[in-house]
Amino acid sequence: MALPSGFIEELIERCDIVNVIEDYMPLKSSGTNYVGLCPFHSEKTPSFMVSPSKQIFKCFGCGEGGNVISFVMKQENLSFIDAVRKLCDRCGMTFPENDEPDFQIRSRILELNREAARYFFNTLQSDEGKPAGQYLLKRGLTPAAIRSFGIGYAGSSWDGLLRAMTAKGFSQAELLAAKLVSRGKNGGLYDFFRERIMFPIIDVRGNVIAFSGRVLTSGDEGRKYINSPDTPVYSKSRALFGINLAKKTKSDFLLLVEGNMDVVSLHSAGFDSAIATCGTALTPQQAQLMKKYASKAVVCFDQDAAGQKATDKAIGILSGADIDVRVLRLPKLRGENGETIKDDPDSFIKREGADAFRKLLSKPPSDTEYKLAEIKSNADLSSDDGKIAYLKEAARYLATVPNDIEREIYTRNTAIDAALSEQALMNEVGRVRASLLREKKKKTANKAANPLSVIQPQERGLRYEDPAAAASEERFLVLLLSYPHLLKTAEASVKPTDFSSKLLASLYEKVLEMSKEGKYISPATLISGLEENEARHLSGVLASALPSEDPGAELLKLINNITIAHIKRTGGTQDVLSVMLAEKRKRGNDNAGTNS
Ligand code: CTP
Ligand code: MN
Repeated sequence: MALPSGFIEELIERCDIVNVIEDYMPLKSSGTNYVGLCPFHSEKTPSFMVSPSKQIFKCFGCGEGGNVISFVMKQENLSFIDAVRKLCDRCGMTFPENDEPDFQIRSRILELNREAARYFFNTLQSDEGKPAGQYLLKRGLTPAAIRSFGIGYAGSSWDGLLRAMTAKGFSQAELLAAKLVSRGKNGGLYDFFRERIMFPIIDVRGNVIAFSGRVLTSGDEGRKYINSPDTPVYSKSRALFGINLAKKTKSDFLLLVEGNMDVVSLHSAGFDSAIATCGTALTPQQAQLMKKYASKAVVCFDQDAAGQKATDKAIGILSGADIDVRVLRLPKLRGENGETIKDDPDSFIKREGADAFRKLLSKPPSDTEYKLAEIKSNADLSSDDGKIAYLKEAARYLATVPNDIEREIYTRNTAIDAALSEQALMNEVGRVRASLLREKKKKTANKAANPLSVIQPQERGLRYEDPAAAASEERFLVLLLSYPHLLKTAEASVKPTDFSSKLLASLYEKVLEMSKEGKYISPATLISGLEENEARHLSGVLASALPSEDPGAELLKLINNITIAHIKRTGGTQDVLSVMLAEKRKRGNDNAGTNS
């Protein structure tokens, strides 16, 4: 969605970042800046810094950083536009498109979804929904659970919803935008969900944002679940099924499971903090949303191979968001015919009861225990070869446990548990650990010997092709922002195309453009509109920039660096180089003379 030019700049200027952040957390002044405990990771000493002059924030602990808009996006888990809308309200600016199509279609889709949910709910209660209702009762859902989740049924007709919603005044365009109907080959419209049990996906504000539809029969035709595609009000990667209810839980953890059915059945059994992703792997955005309601998470996925893989992934993402994560493994049981029963939380509770689940929950194993149990469950301990393979695999993992005492205890327990020689396992762990430490040492040594790698941005997906040149280009931009009188010299000597980094070149272009329009260029404006990793990196560069002792001289040095690097990249010879540099220096001096 396009906002009028200058709008974001004005918003950033009007919403003082210090005031806005203080709405959420206390800040203490420290020199010209403010500091506080970072809201995006847990810490005891403040590494979160807000700069009123630059209008940016940066956490030197976890790396988060950006301007006032990025702060509100992260803190409130909002999209860019929603954060802008919120800040507009706060500083008394009118959001430009309140009466325009984008805003209207969103609120219409939300109204439509609510009506559709009501329609599905009523269908479930009608004659047509009887078999579905019976199926849900058979699976142990109480009428109360059906009501609180708003579960419904989409009937078999091709246009039941289409007709009902049209009668309520919704247009075809609105139904299409909500992805509740599709257009057939002949051009006609038909209902997207048919003959399915309907789970509305509801956000923390209580809006129905999408649907997930499950087939009635566990038959083979068609997919078990069909989910709404993304729409203007729904993004799969941000939504969590059940969060509207789980956010009210009194427990200090959220219980992350895989299936819609698991969520409903856990809530019915009294575990009111259960949530699930909507048919996708957990994303960092979902982890951020979880973090707003609990600092801990228990992951309890299906006990099959896919579930194990998803668990490993979720642990990484949750710990990355500084959520204290534990894994609840459902015990593997043998069925009557000796087969393994692969449970999910729903089937476990049905068979063993809520109390059995509560017991498991009261003492979930740690990550380490989980990982070791997983390695063991994949091992074959009946043969000597299998035992040796297990010993090696377990040792490889145990060697990575950083704490000495913990490592020793787990090593001993693992040996006892699998009837392995304690000494043999200890030796193996020691051997692997020594080689890991050697490797690490080598890496650090390499880094020190090759300082260029040190100045690569720490952000994922962000690499400078020529890190030395990029360092000069970064500092060059910092100087221009802090000492605007240097702009003329800069512009006369360096073109954006001389830059090695496309990202930094585009920022330099933006600076030149804004100065041409006579606009004030704040660091906060400069980083607006960047990708998240870019904004994080650059807010760090800007926030930690030191003032220059002699800005004019430093700029000339940077111009030289940038020019040399550019010529080297484009294959210039030393001769050309010195001539060009001499010329540049002269031009630079002339300009510096007339401007400073
Ligand atoms: N899922 C999906 N598409 C599929 C299968 C599954 O989107 N074809 C998603 C759904 O969100 C589902 C989750 O993955 O809830 C977990 O799948 P599963 O364990 O099979 O579903 P349950 O909800 O546990 O369903 P049930 O117990 O009724 O089989
Ligand atoms: Mn299930």
